[in-house]
Amino acid sequence: MSTPTTPAPDQAAQQKLKEQELSRRRFFALVGWGGFLASVGGSAFGAFRFMFPEVLYEPPTIFKIGKPTDYGMGVTDTLKKERQIWVVRNEKGLYVLVAICRHLGCTPNWFQDQARFRCPCHGSIYDIYGNVRGGPAPRTLWRAAIHLDPVDGQVVVNFIQRQDPDPQSTLEGLTVPEEGREVPPFFVNV
Ligand code: FES
Repeated sequence: MSTPTTPAPDQAAQQKLKEQELSRRRFFALVGWGGFLASVGGSAFGAFRFMFPEVLYEPPTIFKIGKPTDYGMGVTDTLKKERQIWVVRNEKGLYVLVAICRHLGCTPNWFQDQARFRCPCHGSIYDIYGNVRGGPAPRTLWRAAIHLDPVDGQVVVNFIQRQDPDPQSTLEGLTVPEEGREVPPFFVNV
């Protein structure tokens, strides 16, 4: 009696196995290389971004606004948008008011016909000196420090250094006497 023998895999089956093995290796090689290249690419991109950090460019806080003769009597409103200031000239000289409402920080508007700054947000009203003439503002407008550049004679504004004296409560509103205001570096006699 003879025992049945297992038939040896034929050539086609062996070929198929080889191909399967090859494609499996190819797949793992692809995955490996893909991961490697992705990590190298990521590191290179990170290094590249490191050389160009995201910088927030703030406007300068000390800047020149031209010669004193560029400013006539009263309020010059032209620098409000660009510099957030008003330049004011009276009989004695110049001062600079910061165009930020002392209530919640909105930007007031200057009304030449009323000689008043009015804040559109909650109705604060200031006079040409920055005194409060109405509305909820608890303090008078800031004045920024100014001086004349000794070389070119231009007015230099320091937007950060601000005059903020205690106002007195008067019948007209919150007021700071001008004698206490027209002092360097918040006023120039020109
Ligand atoms: S922010 Fe100006 S009145 Fe409120």
